[in-house]
Amino acid sequence: MVKIEKIDEAIHGYYEKTHPAVSTDLIEAVLYSVDGGGKRIRPLILLEVLEGFGLDLTEAHYDVAAALEMIHTGSLIHDDLPAMDNDDYRRGHLTNHKKFDEATAILAGDSLFLDPFGLIADADLLVEVRVRLISELSLGSGTFGMVGGQMLDMEGEEAHLSLEELAQVHANKTGKLLTFPFVAGGIIAQLEADSLAELRKAGELIGLAFQVRDDILDVTATFEEIGKTPQKDLAAEKSTYPSLLGLDKSKQVLDDALNQALAIFQKLADDKGFDQAQIKQLIERLRLNG
Ligand code: IPE
Ligand code: IPE
Ligand code: MG
Ligand code: MG
Ligand code: MG
Repeated sequence: MVKIEKIDEAIHGYYEKTHPAVSTDLIEAVLYSVDGGGKRIRPLILLEVLEGFGLDLTEAHYDVAAALEMIHTGSLIHDDLPAMDNDDYRRGHLTNHKKFDEATAILAGDSLFLDPFGLIADADLLVEVRVRLISELSLGSGTFGMVGGQMLDMEGEEAHLSLEELAQVHANKTGKLLTFPFVAGGIIAQLEADSLAELRKAGELIGLAFQVRDDILDVTATFEEIGKTPQKDLAAEKSTYPSLLGLDKSKQVLDDALNQALAIFQKLADDKGFDQAQIKQLIERLRLNG
């Protein structure tokens, strides 16, 4: 698929072409995790939103897509560390700290958290657009987003969270980085505030759906299907949707959230001429029927 190849090219371009290497070992560790595979759903959402609003994709758009995937990949490297979820496999390969060592994995994660902001700052976009993207990505990734949510997730181990509390964990640890590509697409397309608000709502719904889906797959899927050790959440006594609601109700939550997101895109299609075919297809791929 051409888009995925171009996203990967943008990440490699950053590490291999833009600056003289300081440590080739560090870059090797970073690219090991980047190249481990992964569905690339976050950057693909951004690109489909942009095309849906009629934009022709440019190198700068791929740089923003790459920046998002870099932060996501860094979050996975740190999530897998012994002090966190302590996982040996990711994307079907050894986790970064198993392949290299813990210090290298921590530093590779640090790189993948910090480099994206420079990549966006240097992208060929209007200055105002770049600043808004950097602000949005910082909020979604850091203390008030993914990292904050990871803290709640760790504190939720062996605790009994209410559904509201669990929804907060999911909205932050996963929801914020999945909301970014929807909102970022709107920022780049220079949409009005009302459309941006709709995109944000859709992103939050997809974010919830995505983590509920991940929680369900942890219970039901095989290593081959998810590329990581299944049934880890139960072992760690994680608070998850299946542990709180059971599998059937969790699947209902997933379906409801996807349907609500689809309704938002239908409205954007009717009111703003958004071409929803591709984003609809991406969303439908998240269903777990049967
Ligand atoms: C896994 O994300 C971590 C969660 C937020 C659930 P993905 O399921 O998108 O992982 P990759 O990128 O495809 O490996
Ligand atoms: C990860 O949630 C969320 C992140 C911010 C990385 P999980 O811990 O459930 O993700 P997996 O199952 O290890 O991919
Ligand atoms: Mg985790
Ligand atoms: Mg994990
Ligand atoms: Mg999981």
